[in-house]
Amino acid sequence: MESVQSVERMRVVVTGGSGLVGKAIEHVVKEEGGAKEGEEWIFLSSKDADLMDFRATQALFQRLQPTHVIHLAAMVGGLFRNMRLNLDFWRCNIYINDNVLQAAHHVGVQKVVSCLSTCIFPDNTTYPITEKMIHNGPPHDSNFGYSYAKRMIDVNNRAYFQQFGHRYTAVIPTNVFGPHDNFSIEDGHVLPGLIHKTYLAKEEGSPLTVWGSGNPRRQFIYSLDLARLFLWVLREYDEVEPIILSVGEEDEVSIKDAAEAVTEALDFRGDIVYDTSKADGQFKKTASNAKLCSYLPDVTFTPFKTAVKETCDWFVSNYDFARK
Ligand SMILES: NC(=O)c1ccc[n+]([C@@H]2O[C@H](COP(=O)([O-])OP(=O)(O)OC[C@H]3O[C@@H](n4cnc5c(N)ncnc54)[C@H](OP(=O)(O)O)[C@@H]3O)[C@@H](O)[C@H]2O)c1
Repeated sequence: MESVQSVERMRVVVTGGSGLVGKAIEHVVKEEGGAKEGEEWIFLSSKDADLMDFRATQALFQRLQPTHVIHLAAMVGGLFRNMRLNLDFWRCNIYINDNVLQAAHHVGVQKVVSCLSTCIFPDNTTYPITEKMIHNGPPHDSNFGYSYAKRMIDVNNRAYFQQFGHRYTAVIPTNVFGPHDNFSIEDGHVLPGLIHKTYLAKEEGSPLTVWGSGNPRRQFIYSLDLARLFLWVLREYDEVEPIILSVGEEDEVSIKDAAEAVTEALDFRGDIVYDTSKADGQFKKTASNAKLCSYLPDVTFTPFKTAVKETCDWFVSNYDFARK
């Protein structure tokens, strides 16, 4: 008899497929040839269903019958939005995450990869942060609603494994940025906010005002680098315990460094002013990528300045359509 090599069929549903990370995964899958034979990819937005509603979530999953899920959908925002809306961040994310995991369980999804964040770790901690430390103490006060809701994904994953043997897991990225980000100055994350502010300051010929002292330190990961790692986690990473997806500790930069990378990329030559009346947030949350490197010793990342330049170029070219 002729031997027929079987191709594993995978129907991958990506919740939050219209956001920063979802668009990067879509790019890698569709433009970089990231999809493998036998894989079908479906990218969802909130227009497909409000995932805060369990019935709608369940109906969507029953219709789509995914075998695999990348779960990105979330209420997401920067420091100042978190400080204003801790209750909304808690409720929205706790419902979305519980609904998605329960609906995935109901339709027999083999694997779910959800998304945590390094900003959910204990505020009072030793560095570098590792995957083992998620539940070791209270998060920073500024974003406790988001943090506790995200931590419960890990509780869910462990419990689904214990009761049903499901290999549902999560990744833990550091600060993500790239094309399709939310460039809102009030509500977005620090880097896209800086890009938007610098763009406006250049247009108006005014100084660039950076909120806070510029001293806090962050590890930034380019959304396209993160997207490629997501595909690896989906296909190869077999643990229930989450994995930090980050550049190395030595690649951490200050907000001042980030502002300078943005001004260089946008060729802004005016003054930079630091408004210290505005909150700094957590001083640092340095994460270890040792676990990632133990799996992928040759992992590489786009140089920070190159990624910032590409993001700035995207923002300028798409100014009229960008979220801001
Ligand atoms: N951005 C970062 O720096 C960062 C860092 C670490 C972890 N993460 C995590 O990465 C994941 C993706 O973040 P992102 O930055 O890509 O976020 P984003 O750009 O704000 O996108 C959020 C996505 O979630 C969808 N969504 C929100 N509420 C929904 C609801 N009730 N029902 C259905 N869909 C809903 C949005 O759909 P619409 O477009 O239709 O609104 C959008 O596709 C999140 O889980 C986030 O916590 C982000």
